[in-house]
Amino acid sequence: MTALKFPTLAQPVKIGSLMLKNRVGMSSLTRNRADPGGIPNDRMVQYYTDRASAGILLSEGIYIEPQGGEWSFAPGIWNDKQVAGWRKVTDSVRAAGGVIFAQLWHVGRVAHPLLQDGKPAVAPSAVAAKGGLFRQLEGRPGYVTPEAIEDPAVYVEMFRKASENARKAGFDGVELHAANGYLPGQFLESHSNLRTDAYGGTPQKRAKFILDTLRALISTWDNDASRVGIKLSPSGGYNDMGDPYDVMLAEYTAVLDGIDSLGLGYVQLMRYMAAMDPTKRGTEIDVLKLFGKKAGRKVPVIVNSGLTPEEAEKIIGDGDADIALFGRATLANPNFAKMIQDGRELAQLPYTQYYADDAEGRGYIKF
Ligand code: PHB
Repeated sequence: MTALKFPTLAQPVKIGSLMLKNRVGMSSLTRNRADPGGIPNDRMVQYYTDRASAGILLSEGIYIEPQGGEWSFAPGIWNDKQVAGWRKVTDSVRAAGGVIFAQLWHVGRVAHPLLQDGKPAVAPSAVAAKGGLFRQLEGRPGYVTPEAIEDPAVYVEMFRKASENARKAGFDGVELHAANGYLPGQFLESHSNLRTDAYGGTPQKRAKFILDTLRALISTWDNDASRVGIKLSPSGGYNDMGDPYDVMLAEYTAVLDGIDSLGLGYVQLMRYMAAMDPTKRGTEIDVLKLFGKKAGRKVPVIVNSGLTPEEAEKIIGDGDADIALFGRATLANPNFAKMIQDGRELAQLPYTQYYADDAEGRGYIKF
């Protein structure tokens, strides 16, 4: 037997009672190829099962309600048909020895009425994101001005219900997608949340929506907080996000202190990526240094965004994170976690094929 190329990445790691067989996970990737009605299909069963050698699979973003989406063929988890579809995915992944968390997704103001029967986009406040490009709509319109949410507790309840459904569907846990400028992140940042009620006005109040939602998610797992993770992108950029440094620091510290107290399964931190910051609004910070293990984080840390296996081996070996995620590399190389250990040559996938390996090209308009 030859020596492993990345011995640290090959080590098992525990998240609560779950044992992950290695530290190489698959990040969430929008694939936009569920059946109409957001129902997972056999191609999705195969897609996830093929990648079960990863220590943890994070599902693509899964809508928690019909009004929370940005793609026509992304999957949902608010009804029984969707739950039954996901059950096929999780049964198959489990049989292949994999662990899979459901990423719960509500895009808030970056939805488009034309993708949801004319219903408005919703957000903490009626502030439109700048820019945008709906690739699936004629003329490729940009973002719209959203309708301000009257009672945020209604959305906390939608997330809770989605988590309950994810458990019924056989997922090992859920991840709150609070990164990249979607609904939870819109509550947290000052430019998108102008509320003056209990959910706005100070960094602590803006953190309330996320922390209330996390508590609701935990309640669906018999109060085992380790079955709940969260994804955060403090450096901003994507979907017109980003606060001045001091404000960002106060907001993300408020959320992360709450996460530590709750004892979540993990926090996933996205590193700054220029490719995800088209409006140059983001801040190029070292998220691991600011918020990771050496900053005193009490829950396991997952690092994501633009990693090479060499970097991931060093980051985890140095004690800056516990698990590393790979998106495009795992898409192009289903057996990525094993291939890197054997030093095998990796395939590359052009961005243009990212959402589109659909025989019919369904729902896809070329970039
Ligand atoms: C996308 O579909 O392009 C997408 C979805 C979720 C993200 C980032 C990008 O967090």
